[in-house]
Amino acid sequence: MQKDLLTLMELDSKDVAEILSIAETMKGRSGRGGKSSSKSKGEHRYRLNMERLKDKVFVMIFQKPSTRTRVSFDVAIRELGGYAITLNASDIQLSRGESIEDTARTLSRYADAIGARVYAHNDVERLARAADVPVINMLSDLYHPCQILGDLLTIKEVKGKLAGLTVAWVGDGNNVCNSLIIGSTLTGMIMKVACPKDYEPLQDAVNFAREHNGYVEIMEDPKDAVRDADVVYTDSFVSMGKEAEREERLRVFLPRYQVNDDLIAMAKSDAIFMHCLPAKRGEEVTDSVIDGPYSVVWQQAENRLHAQKALLYMMLTSAETRRGRGMKRVSRTRSG
Ligand code: CP
Ligand code: NVA
Repeated sequence: MQKDLLTLMELDSKDVAEILSIAETMKGRSGRGGKSSSKSKGEHRYRLNMERLKDKVFVMIFQKPSTRTRVSFDVAIRELGGYAITLNASDIQLSRGESIEDTARTLSRYADAIGARVYAHNDVERLARAADVPVINMLSDLYHPCQILGDLLTIKEVKGKLAGLTVAWVGDGNNVCNSLIIGSTLTGMIMKVACPKDYEPLQDAVNFAREHNGYVEIMEDPKDAVRDADVVYTDSFVSMGKEAEREERLRVFLPRYQVNDDLIAMAKSDAIFMHCLPAKRGEEVTDSVIDGPYSVVWQQAENRLHAQKALLYMMLTSAETRRGRGMKRVSRTRSG
């Protein structure tokens, strides 16, 4: 496994399958997930050595607000035996001009992994380049990889599989959409994105799909995307950092891109509705859909926790293994 997780492109299909299996094992042991119906076989075949995560420190830096990501990562590392330190970017020396690189070098001396939620994706890339420890993108303007790990777990639980399913994305081709294109590619799902012109997903994500045998189709009409879909997914039309464009965006997206009863009725009869949350009810989705029988949004929110526990387990144990190999190389060089 690669050192950092910034987009989801760092993972291959095998990594994703392993994270999902570990997440199922973790969830099976957690006693959570009471109300959710699961079709997943949940092999729970992992023997997890939780001692390896004992007292690990996860430092999280937030430039933007967060409810789910912040709390689920905090609970995740605690349940693994470690603990989190949460920093608002405005409270640390970054806000007074200390460089991202110097911040990364300093935090690497205290933490076993660093998470960051940033405005500019380049900030988390700089953090990862300078940090000695794994860096996790907890949302940037371009990608939201941790969200997608929880989403894949949710789809697998509800549908019993991933490969061959069709996911319809309706609305803004944003950070969540970009990582979902990558996640769909890595799991063999077909992705249809319906968005207005100039709000298409990132070309890098589409290229990744094309170069890795993925299937992604971009279209303007939401009906074309949703027709016979297994999953219908939307997100806010106004992502964090885009508030100044709010009026213009609502003019472009509404009413055509709202997921309402008429639109979701075009999907398969057993389709599910997903939303990364927070939702702007009455804008990208109606109350009747988000609170209705198709919706799996609370199961989806819970699964952030289980998927991130699996991710932290994989990243921290891989980092330990990498460090071990590095130490062996040094000692061989010295003795040789
Ligand atoms: N979905 C998600 O990342 O939610 P938060 O912004 O609350 O973390
Ligand atoms: N696209 C949204 C996701 C929030 C979790 C945003 O970036 O604000």
